This record gives sequence, C-alpha cells and structure tokens, in this order.
Amino acid sequence: MNLPPIDLRSLPQVLRAMPKAELHIHIEGSLEPEMIFALARRNKVNLPYSSVEALRQAYAFTDLQSFLDIYYAGASVLLKEQDFYDMAWAYFEKAARDSVIHAELFFDPQTHTSRGVEMGTVIQGLARACRDARSQLGLSASLILCFLRHLSEDEAFATLEQALPWREHFIGVGLDSSEVGHPPEKFARIFKRCGDLGLRRVAHAGEEGPPAYIHAALDLLGAERIDHGVQATRDRALMQRLADRRVPLTVCPLSNIKLCVYPHLEQHSLGQLLDAGIVATINSDDPAYFGGYINDNFVQTFGALKLQASQAYTLARNSFEASFIETSVRSNLIARLDQFFEELRN
Ligand code: ADE
Ligand code: ZN
Repeated sequence: MNLPPIDLRSLPQVLRAMPKAELHIHIEGSLEPEMIFALARRNKVNLPYSSVEALRQAYAFTDLQSFLDIYYAGASVLLKEQDFYDMAWAYFEKAARDSVIHAELFFDPQTHTSRGVEMGTVIQGLARACRDARSQLGLSASLILCFLRHLSEDEAFATLEQALPWREHFIGVGLDSSEVGHPPEKFARIFKRCGDLGLRRVAHAGEEGPPAYIHAALDLLGAERIDHGVQATRDRALMQRLADRRVPLTVCPLSNIKLCVYPHLEQHSLGQLLDAGIVATINSDDPAYFGGYINDNFVQTFGALKLQASQAYTLARNSFEASFIETSVRSNLIARLDQFFEELRN
C-alpha cells in the first residue's frame, strides 16, 4: 500500500490504533502479579513470595528456563473454571484496548492437569471467555493447545486424548516450554496424529534453539507457523525457505530482550526478517512477565529499530494473513485495516 508520510510523533498513535491480530500469547503468561495474589487468596494457595512487589522483583530472567520456573509457579493459583475465565477475560479487555480484533491464544493444559485440575475445567473456562470476547468486545478469539516439550511423547498423547472431548473448542496445537535439548523430532508422531485430526499445527522453534530446529518443525511437525523463529537469521538458506514458502514467524521482541536472546532492542533481527520478505508479525508472548502487551511491543520496537509506517501496515497485514481465520472473515479484517490506513490520508 502507498502510504502518505506519517509524522514521526504520530507513528506511535498509528501503531496503537491500527487493527491487528495477536497470534503468540500464552494465556498463562498474561497473569499479572496482582491477579496471581488475588487468585492465591481466593483458592487458598500458598505462594513462595511475600507480596506482589516481591514477586515482581523475581522477574529478572537470564534465559528461557529461568523464566519458565517462575511462570509455572505463577500458574499454580489456577484451579477453577472461573479462574481460567477471569485470566482470559482480563487479557481480552487489554487486547481490545490495544486494537486487537482477532487473537489466537496458547494454553498449556499439562501445567494444570499435572496438579489435578480437569482438562474440561481449563478448556471450558477459556472457551467461555473467548465467546464473551466476541459478543462483548467484537474480538474474535480461538484456542491453541500446546504440548510441553520438556515432557514425554507419551504424556503429549495422553493430553491429546483428554482434550478430544472438547475438540470443538480448540483449533490447533503448538509446542512450547524448554527448547534446547527437546528438538521437534521428539513430537513428530503426535503432530502427525493432530494433523490427521484436522488440527492446525504451530511450534516454537529458533527462540534459543538452532536454525535446524526450525527446519525440523517444518519438515517433521508440519508446522504452518513458527513461533519466534528469530534464530533463522543464522541460516541464509532457511531465510530464503521461509520467505519463498511464506511461512509466518510470530516474533515477540520484548520477550527476546527479557530472556536475553538479544542484549538490546536495537539489536533485534525483526528489521532483517522483514527486509528478507519473511511474513513476520509482532506479538507479546507472556506480557505480564516481559513488561508489555502487544502495543508496547510495537511502539518500543519501532522506536528502537526506526521502522516506518509502511512496515506498520505490513506487520498488521501479516498478522491477518498468518492467522487461522476463515478466508472470508480474513478478507473483512484486512479490509478494515486498509480502511484505517486510507483514512490517514484524509
Ligand atoms: N511458554 C511460555 N512462554 C514461552 C516461551 N517464550 N518459550 C517457550 N515456551 C513458553
Ligand atoms: Zn511463546
């Protein structure tokens, strides 16, 4: 799209107001410390932190694993259907304020079923929030069930079986948790089974792990999108492959800084990925832990990398193209985006 020059001072407003989709948000990563403490009180769960401030102070991560240890502890306060609803609803209210009009939410059932919470409790609470997001906020939302890759293939198969009675409530499966040492091949058979069931497939790859994990996610898991994927810049042939096949990457810049994938936002590879013609998107990952929701990711990344209005349009458009929305709905969402940018000319 041919865009008029946008005053640098008004670019943040454009970024905040433009319609967008969020495709990489772990709903358990949206639990703010205040809500963790409120749910701990409600459910009489003991936390190893004395206050909200003490918990926030623990958010000084050195890598992915140091974050995951605290993230799983935070999720221990979720017990009832209403807890899952409240968590997702709080996210949807914030997302709607960030002009998110479509969201695909990851959830980690094994984090809950391992504590004795029923699969139905998790899925029904989240699905009810998704329905209310559509009816009350005009935000379409769907769920993607993630397998924890530090656990076994057998446990992933058992999790899928437990979830199948609620098949209509999730559109696909993903793969998350500790990446290095847990390569995609470990989950090739479960992803094949999910593909046969008609589930969409995505996988975290190349967050901390090598480019070979991204190749393997595509070749062995049938991944249609790669979550993170930023390590692709280390492999020129892979960059070409991603661009040629239009494999979307759901990039999460503030996450990458908080987990020390890059020392500073100025060094982030998003600009390089876009320049290579890769269908990159901007997302928040675990916003309560990484210092910002999707618009914070947009505004800070554009500031640090000196990105322009045309890249704002490309990123928002990519978010709809990379989504799993039905084709006719997708065209409507892209039309809303085009209309938004058309109005900037007037
Ligand atoms: N689970 C929640 N956030 C994650 C991340 N950034 N990488 C892998 N697994 C996760
Ligand atoms: Zn993630």
